[in-house]
Amino acid sequence: MSVDKAKESAAIAAVNEHINHNVHVIGVGSGSTIIPAVKRIAEMVEKDKLDLICVPTSLQARELILSHGLKLGSLVEYQELDVAIDGADEVDEQFNCIKGGGGCQTQEKLVAICAKKFIVVADEKKWSTNLGDKWKKGVPIEVLPIAYKITKKEIEKQLGGEVIVREGTGKVGPVLTDQGNFILDWKFDSSKVFNWSDVNQQLKLIPGVVETGLFINMISKAYFGNNDGNVQVKV
Ligand code: A5P
Repeated sequence: MSVDKAKESAAIAAVNEHINHNVHVIGVGSGSTIIPAVKRIAEMVEKDKLDLICVPTSLQARELILSHGLKLGSLVEYQELDVAIDGADEVDEQFNCIKGGGGCQTQEKLVAICAKKFIVVADEKKWSTNLGDKWKKGVPIEVLPIAYKITKKEIEKQLGGEVIVREGTGKVGPVLTDQGNFILDWKFDSSKVFNWSDVNQQLKLIPGVVETGLFINMISKAYFGNNDGNVQVKV
């Protein structure tokens, strides 16, 4: 069974448990694992006649919502969401989480903080003992374009490691986020023990930093699909 099947199993298990007649406004995450989740949500809306408004975490999520014929909302209209479902790049045993591999962490965090329940769906490779054990691309940090050299220097000075300005394929120069900012990937020394809550606060105090991909104490429940299609649920 492929990794995609693992992601799909996690996504479907989470949607089946959390989407029902009692939820009305939901957050829709970004990435590849959210694709089967949205498909399942659309099936349920159709079959069970659910009245759902979907708030996207990115342009990708917005297009997924629209292409599945779901109702689109926004954070300007809705700041109280019943549940948000999203993917992750890595989740550790303390439920510290790295997000933003797809560059959407700022909107993802805004949606997550508005949700009564923040549900993570991922394949089992995303579950680790400590952050950095498996995810080697570092912590994504959205920064103001004007500040990217200052923030890069400051992060390396304060926290060590190496900061890479994210560049994409098919484009010369830095990748732009949905908000028009740049992304820095902070490659930390994974042999060091970090207090991730402190690190997150420290990063956020650096002028020019818009948001980090560290999601600390935010996850309500996480679903990890494995290669045989089973799903481990962590609370
Ligand atoms: C988007 O920026 C990310 O936070 C994704 O949610 C995360 O990278 C997980 O993506 P996949 O579901 O594609 O693994």
